[in-house]
Amino acid sequence: ASTWRDTLASFPPLKNDLLLRAAAGEETERAPVWVMRQAGRYLPEFLAIRKDHSFFECCQTPALASALTLQPIDRYPRLDASIIFCDILVVPQAMGMTVLMQPEKGPVFPEPLVTPDDISKLREHVDVDKELGYLFEAITLTRKGLDGRVPLIGFCGAPWTLMAYMVEGGGSKTFEKSKGWLYRYPEESKRLLERVARVCGELLVGQVLAGAQLLQVFDSWAGELTPHQFQTFALPPLLSIASYVHSTLSALGHPGVPITLFPKGVHSPSSLSLLSDPSATGYATLGLDWQVDPQEIRQIVGKTVNLQGNFDPVVLYGGKEGIEKEVERVCERWKGAGGGWIANLGHGITPNVKPEMMGWFLECVHKYSKR
Ligand code: CP3
Repeated sequence: ASTWRDTLASFPPLKNDLLLRAAAGEETERAPVWVMRQAGRYLPEFLAIRKDHSFFECCQTPALASALTLQPIDRYPRLDASIIFCDILVVPQAMGMTVLMQPEKGPVFPEPLVTPDDISKLREHVDVDKELGYLFEAITLTRKGLDGRVPLIGFCGAPWTLMAYMVEGGGSKTFEKSKGWLYRYPEESKRLLERVARVCGELLVGQVLAGAQLLQVFDSWAGELTPHQFQTFALPPLLSIASYVHSTLSALGHPGVPITLFPKGVHSPSSLSLLSDPSATGYATLGLDWQVDPQEIRQIVGKTVNLQGNFDPVVLYGGKEGIEKEVERVCERWKGAGGGWIANLGHGITPNVKPEMMGWFLECVHKYSKR
């Protein structure tokens, strides 16, 4: 019964706790920095492994997922966090849906949910250890490989973002099918969102017991919703997830981990205000995209919630001088904003970035985020 205690006790001590201190609200001596999708297609060593293995094979094979997670950590000693290599779409897979990753198109669901009747095709009870045990194994293996260099982040997709994929059958520009559901079938949508939230909650707890030291929930399509829809549909299952994670860990005697929410595109002051109190939401940190100014957001949310972000991912195409100038400017805005700050891009790093430019970006963040 106490196996998770043995697992955690077997890990080497953490040598860089900057991320965890910032996530606890400390104004750290410099900002911890990591990058969404830091293990990805811009790295030649990633492409070398991907050449021989499909995307989901990489996710589902602990040795591969762990090797991919460690690639950016080995290459960039300035990274202050690792994030386990996986995908948010493993949750719909665990619920019984088929998800393919197609070279140019991204994720595709051959049999999306068309009407609420299709919800009955989903697995009634999801055995997370059976369906997603590979992720827990990958996490434990990665904690060993990290040897305490930096903390390991676990993650999942937010229910609304996952529902959008499950109903659209892939990416979308207009979200007419999934948002259509919210207008046409509001009650069924809420039930589906809560069902997805349950699996997410169990998935996050499993990741923590396997060794994840911080969690992030990606609500990549939250900005497609009206503020009213965000508050009615997206937010309640997000609150369920955090409450489930914190109460389950606490009941097990686990000290708990901070959770970050990345509600991409949510800029409305009324929605942001609802996310400003970690003791009410369970989310210690909010991730910001690049379309907002840190000081303007601080005025809305106050200082109890930590913030993460928010460099424009395209700054990495700006050349050395352009990168340095912009990093300096954005760091000044952040330092003036005060409160806990984790430096990151405002969305994932894109495939055509030159690896040297990522290294230079990290160097600049180290230099200009110093307090
Ligand atoms: O380094 C990391 O950040 C960890 C790994 C990670 C991946 N996906 C690997 C990945 C994480 C955290 C994700 C999350 C994810 N997946 C999100 C939320 C973050 C976001 O970008 O908004 C979303 C929406 C997905 C779904 C998804 N997965 C899409 C839309 C795509 C295709 C588009 C793209 O950018 O490639 C993926 C594929 C994917 N997930 C790749 C990687 C490295 C590339 C696929 C490949 O290797 O062929």
